[in-house]
Amino acid sequence: MSTLCTQFQTDGYLVIEDFNTHEACDALIIRAKELAEGYRPGENKSVFQTSDQVQTSDDYFLDSGDKVSFFFEKDALDDHGNLKGEVYPSLNKIGHALHDLDPVFNAFTRSPQMKQLTTALELDRQWIIQSMLIFKHARIGGVVDVHQDSTFLFTTPDTCVGFWFALEDANAQNGCLWAKPGGHHTTLRSHFVRKNGGSTEMKTLDSSPYDTGDMVPLEVKKGALVVLHGLLPHYSLPNTSGKSRQAYAIHTIHPQAHYPETNWLQRDMSTLSDFHG
Ligand code: FE2
Repeated sequence: MSTLCTQFQTDGYLVIEDFNTHEACDALIIRAKELAEGYRPGENKSVFQTSDQVQTSDDYFLDSGDKVSFFFEKDALDDHGNLKGEVYPSLNKIGHALHDLDPVFNAFTRSPQMKQLTTALELDRQWIIQSMLIFKHARIGGVVDVHQDSTFLFTTPDTCVGFWFALEDANAQNGCLWAKPGGHHTTLRSHFVRKNGGSTEMKTLDSSPYDTGDMVPLEVKKGALVVLHGLLPHYSLPNTSGKSRQAYAIHTIHPQAHYPETNWLQRDMSTLSDFHG
């Protein structure tokens, strides 16, 4: 087993600085802006938030597993659901199949260094099931409450692993990730379930509170990669600074694990592919 593998299993996360070049990060930011410019206001204005136990669950969200869909910050819409300002600075995220549908995102996701790293971590054959461009714009970017990614991509056994790419510097002021080394040695607290009829429910599996006291800020520079175990509790604070904190995140599952139909994200599983794509 490689040293990286051992470290990942011990800490539940890895921080790898200088994983991507600044040029590669900029190319993704530019592409996201182009995609946002192609969004037609009026089609849909779906808000994405995970604060106060509020979970996005409208049809637009539930149907976004195999699409490039746009989600807005709660504070970007007025009481009538209309955008207060421009589209781009109001976006919370774009998801959830960028890695399969967009050539620029596909190349970034399945880059030579990702093939090399995931091979070293014995994760190269994991299926990439979800991708998100997360904006966290200056002053408007909202909180993401403490959670485990396996809650949203539940498999039996648990196999969810996330890859979080810093497209800009991320620090305590603009809403970096927070987590505790070894924090993944714990139970899965909940499962975000899609119910018949199109509603969703946060099903409690273990009501123990998260221990957030020992969590540390994962401050990273533009170009860094953070690998996250699916059971690792983590969160990020609102961006109260004047600097945006854009990140790109992908999530993977083992192809042989059971992926239930109750998971919110559903797509044709025969279309999924790994890092060799
Ligand atoms: Fe997460």
